Amino acid sequence: MDCKICKKIINIAPSATLVLDKQAKDLIAKGEPVINLTAGELDFPAPLEIRKKVTKATIKGFNTYTPTGGLPELKKLICKKLKKDNKLSYKSDEVIVTNGAKQSLFNIFQVILGPGDEVIIPTPYWVSYVEQVKLGEGKAVLVPTDNNFDLNVDAVLKAINKKTKAIIINSPNNPTGKIYSEANLKKLAKGLKGKDVWVISDEIYEHLNYGIKPDSIARFYKQRTIIVNGFSKSHAITGWRVGYTVGNSHLIKSLEKLQSHSSGNVSNIMQIAAIEALKTGNKYPKKFIPELKKRRKYLIEKILKIPGATMAEPDGAFYVFFRIPGITDDSEKFCQNLLKYAKVAVVPGECFGKKGYIRLSYANSTPKIKEAISRIEKFIKNKP
Ligand SMILES: Cc1ncc(COP(=O)(O)O)c(C=O)c1O
Repeated sequence: MDCKICKKIINIAPSATLVLDKQAKDLIAKGEPVINLTAGELDFPAPLEIRKKVTKATIKGFNTYTPTGGLPELKKLICKKLKKDNKLSYKSDEVIVTNGAKQSLFNIFQVILGPGDEVIIPTPYWVSYVEQVKLGEGKAVLVPTDNNFDLNVDAVLKAINKKTKAIIINSPNNPTGKIYSEANLKKLAKGLKGKDVWVISDEIYEHLNYGIKPDSIARFYKQRTIIVNGFSKSHAITGWRVGYTVGNSHLIKSLEKLQSHSSGNVSNIMQIAAIEALKTGNKYPKKFIPELKKRRKYLIEKILKIPGATMAEPDGAFYVFFRIPGITDDSEKFCQNLLKYAKVAVVPGECFGKKGYIRLSYANSTPKIKEAISRIEKFIKNKP
């Protein structure tokens, strides 16, 4: 049947990680012993304190719309967080609460891009950036990071031309876990002086770090930086969909205008969850770190023992991104076969613009991770 779907939608790919996650979950539902290491979400339950507040607000009957941009208390707390964690001063009219960082990013591209405008995306990159830029009628310009997956500032600056509207920075990075060095962020900020270019800083993994603390580029390039963040990863509430965008008040007003005609406000009850998350400070991400650190260490040691395996050790997030020359070169095929024969689901590097690599999420229990690694080792030994 000809459904008359527009070209803009026909030309975009579905989220590859969500497709793989669904494929793994469907197999599990059919009773297959699949271990799913594709997940972009923590395997911990939502914090009890936050659940209690949500329940209380629901029972009280809190059921009304909120201002499109979010509850005033939540916006104030976000400003307080930015001051405390990032040493950045913002006012409430420079903040908008969104349905997750994903909506923040989508709306930003809708608001700042026109047909043919370019957005520089360092590779490897998170799956949705390229498709979201296309949905904004823009063009993604991919610029590889260096051998250690840190930003190649010279290459980024060289890629800027009259059509460049924005550069995306994602640190800690998905899929590499890399935290871009402060020196590189400062160098980029310096190189951008006098240029009419936005920096979109996706800081969703800010609190999941294992030694180095990530810096926001807004500290060096505040006027033209748009910060994107949220509670999905820091508080294990991915499905609750609360994020936020921070930037100059003119931009925020435009984002609010768009949101007022699309989703409207974020679920009022989930804004209560976000308020509680901020009131508990960084207690929850800090609680998650020791367990994630153990899994990370185990995986790095195990993977690097596989003959030929290489990776840049992740500084943050909950992914390892590695390659085994001669084995994972066709990463898509490797992942398909791994799922078929070893029943382990991981994501091929192609999804992140880096063929030959595999992304493995350690947001799964230690016994499951151990079993998955043992299956991967066996699979590589007996390569089908
Ligand atoms: C780099 C990156 N940015 C943004 C998002 C979206 O996060 P949210 O759940 O807040 O929409 C994700 C989710 O996986 C991500 O990995």
